[in-house]
Amino acid sequence: MREFPGTRPRRLRRNAALRALVREDRLSVDDLIWPVFVRDGENVLEEVPSMPGVVRRSVDRIVEAAEQAAELGIRCICIFPYTDNALKTDACEEAWNPENLSNRATRAIRAAVPDLLVMTDIALDPYNAQGHDGIVRDGIILNDESVEALVRMAVAQADAGADILGPSDMMDNRIGAMRDALEAAGHSDTCIMSYSAKYASAFYGPFRDAVGASGALKGDKKTYQLDPLNAEEAERMIARDLAEGADMVMVKPGMPYLDIVRRVKARFRVPTFAYQVSGEYAMIRAAAANGWIDGEKAMMESLMAFRRAGCDGVLTYFAPEAAGLIARGWE
Ligand code: PBG
Repeated sequence: MREFPGTRPRRLRRNAALRALVREDRLSVDDLIWPVFVRDGENVLEEVPSMPGVVRRSVDRIVEAAEQAAELGIRCICIFPYTDNALKTDACEEAWNPENLSNRATRAIRAAVPDLLVMTDIALDPYNAQGHDGIVRDGIILNDESVEALVRMAVAQADAGADILGPSDMMDNRIGAMRDALEAAGHSDTCIMSYSAKYASAFYGPFRDAVGASGALKGDKKTYQLDPLNAEEAERMIARDLAEGADMVMVKPGMPYLDIVRRVKARFRVPTFAYQVSGEYAMIRAAAANGWIDGEKAMMESLMAFRRAGCDGVLTYFAPEAAGLIARGWE
C-alpha cells in the first residue's frame, strides 16, 4: 500500500453511490424472524407496557399479523403464548395440550398464510406455576423429567404444523430426545433451531412480563442458562446440540453477545442466528422515546451489526418496522 497521500481511504466514502458500491454486506428482509405474543380472547390487542409498540394478540389478530408479515416479505414468525394463570401447574400439562394457545395459533397461521414459516418456542415457563423452564421439585429443576415434558411439547407443536421448533429451555439431552421423538412421530422434516448458547440474562425482563412469567418465577435460571463470562462453554453447547440433531443454532441475547456469534460462525460454519431480546428492544425504544437517540437509525444499525458479526438471521421485535424501511430502500 502506498503511503498517504497516495492512499486516501476517504475517496471511497465520498458519496452514496461509492459507499454502496463498496459496501461489504446487505441487511435483507430474508434475515428477519418476527417474535409475536398470543393471548386468549377474540379481537384483542393488548400493549405490553415494558415493550412499547409490542402487543399481545388473540389468535384472530395473530393471523392478521401473519398476513402483514407475508406482505412485508418476512419469512418466519415466532409464537410465544401468554397463558392464563389458571392453566399453570407444577407438571405443566398445558404445554403439550394440542389445543393450547401456541398450537391453535400455529394451525390458524398455517391455514391462512401457508408459505410463512411458523417457529415455536419449547420451554415450560409459560405453563409452569413455578415460572421455570423445567419442572421444579423441592426447589430443584429436574433435568430428565423436564426433557420428557419438553419432548411431548415438541411433538404437539410439530403435530400442529410448526416448521421450526426452538428449544429455549437449556436442559441437557433435549435436542437428541426431541429428534428421536419427531422421527418416531413421522415429523422427519421438522427443523430444530436450538437456543444453544442461551445466557442467564437480565435482558429477558420485559419478555417475562409479556408472557406473564415474571410473577411466578422464584430465584434465577443460573442452573441451566449460561454464565455471561463463558465463551468456551457456549462453543461446547453448540457442538453438543449439533451432534444431537439441531439444524440451526442460536445465540441469545444478541447485542451483548456478538463475540459469541462470531466465534460460533467461524468454528462451526452452520446456520447461526441471534435473538435481539426484549431488553435490547426496550432500551432502544426507551432512549428513542426520550429523544436521546434516533430510534430508526439505532434499530437499523443494531440489525446490521448482527449481519456483520456473522448471523444468518436475527429474531427481532423490530422485524415489521425494519422490513418496511428496507422495502423503502434504507441505506
Ligand atoms: C423462555 C424464553 C425466554 C425468552 C425466549 N424464550 C425467557 C427466559 O428464558 O427467561 C426471552 C426472549 C426475550 O427476552 O425477548 N424460555
